[in-house]
Amino acid sequence: NLGVVNIPVVVHVVYSNSQQNISDAQIASQIAVLNADFNATNNDASNTPSEFAGLVADSDISFTLLETQRHSDSRTEWGTRDDVKYAYPPVSPSNTLNIWVANIGGGILGYAQFPGGPAATDGVVIAPQFFGTTGYVSAPFDKGRTATHEVGHYLNLRHIWGDGRCRQDDFVADTPSSDGPNYDCPSYPTVNCKSNDMTMNYMDYTNDACMYMFSEGQKARMRTVFMESGPRTGFVN
Ligand code: ARG
Ligand code: ZN
Ligand code: CA
Repeated sequence: NLGVVNIPVVVHVVYSNSQQNISDAQIASQIAVLNADFNATNNDASNTPSEFAGLVADSDISFTLLETQRHSDSRTEWGTRDDVKYAYPPVSPSNTLNIWVANIGGGILGYAQFPGGPAATDGVVIAPQFFGTTGYVSAPFDKGRTATHEVGHYLNLRHIWGDGRCRQDDFVADTPSSDGPNYDCPSYPTVNCKSNDMTMNYMDYTNDACMYMFSEGQKARMRTVFMESGPRTGFVN
């Protein structure tokens, strides 16, 4: 009943060298991946094994790049404690997704704030070499799925293993329980907790080429945040 929800995006490129000052084309490539992945128009969705094929969700969420802000800064690593957000504050976070493209350090690809957190730090941070599909990108995280994963968190999704053992839930009924993340490119079936893992879900930790779907249950959980009195209702009002 909400129809397609459009999310305006402001990208803050914070760079300490020219490579990190990624091109407009690289940014556009990331917006295109978000639009494909949140509408199940990504070509690799068809790789989904038949056990899960009926659960592949068109989440009906679209993304429009509003603005890119570029900031030269001598700091080379920003960590995961929101320093980059305090240095370059978000634009209208109640109705805009802010994405900081900045080197985090420590091998971290990206991190996100869940809905309901402080406005001053709302949004996601992604390292430049894991953002988009062209330009300064680094395999096997060069298909834009870090942003898909982090925006999933931003829209209230948990990791599919629930960040705990078999009984720990991700609060989504149609993602089978698992006892931890999967990495690299697992073969199907990968069995944990007596069921086949949905290793191809964006909310696992596999390589970009090996994650290609959200489930219907995840779609419902994400869209709930846009409802009246939901934490991200500002995007629809
Ligand atoms: N927060 C996770 C990390 O930094 C992101 C994982 C994204 N996975 C991916 N295939 N792009 O490790
Ligand atoms: Zn995550
Ligand atoms: Ca589940």
